[in-house]
Amino acid sequence: MLLAIPAVLSAADVAACAADLAGAEWADGRITAGTQSRTVKDNGQLPATSPVARAWGDRILDALGAAPLFVSAALPHRTFPPLFNRYGPGQSFGTHIDNAIRPIPSTSIKLRTDLSATLFLSDPDSYEGGELLVEDAFGVQAIKLAAGDMILYPASSLHRVTPVSRGVRLASFFWVQSMIRDDNARAMLFDLDQTIQALAATQGIDDPQV
Ligand code: NI
Repeated sequence: MLLAIPAVLSAADVAACAADLAGAEWADGRITAGTQSRTVKDNGQLPATSPVARAWGDRILDALGAAPLFVSAALPHRTFPPLFNRYGPGQSFGTHIDNAIRPIPSTSIKLRTDLSATLFLSDPDSYEGGELLVEDAFGVQAIKLAAGDMILYPASSLHRVTPVSRGVRLASFFWVQSMIRDDNARAMLFDLDQTIQALAATQGIDDPQV
């Protein structure tokens, strides 16, 4: 299931985040790439220890915790501390699958990557190219969302970022270990929850759990 989560960050937060990212120390994106994706990855990335990455990563996690659509769709057990990347003109990330297991930095925790997330941080009109292409059961989906919006997709999906030809594409990316590992089972629970919420709203039930 591919799902867009709108307005995870407000316009004001996106502007403040972009300003902080502009002044941060960027590294080569290959620092977190596996041996195979390393050969197709060309972008900039903030180190996991970057104070800017940690501060805005925490802000994003707080926002997601208060986003019912994300909680319902991901049923998160554990979320990787968000990372940040930047694609300038000519940069891209070729077709790859994200690592199945991610050690969480500075902990002994290993996260099973059930879901991948990309939170767009640049106005789509400010850059050309830089689409996230995700292969799913219906073919290749091209994703380029408004700044502050996030896409959630199965981490087992083949995906790539097309070359940026103008401007700069900033984004945050991370992974979620869900309480429900199987994508189809999780999608079914999501549909059920959305139906209950819709019924509760139309039937005027205050507490749908009663
Ligand atoms: Ni990836």
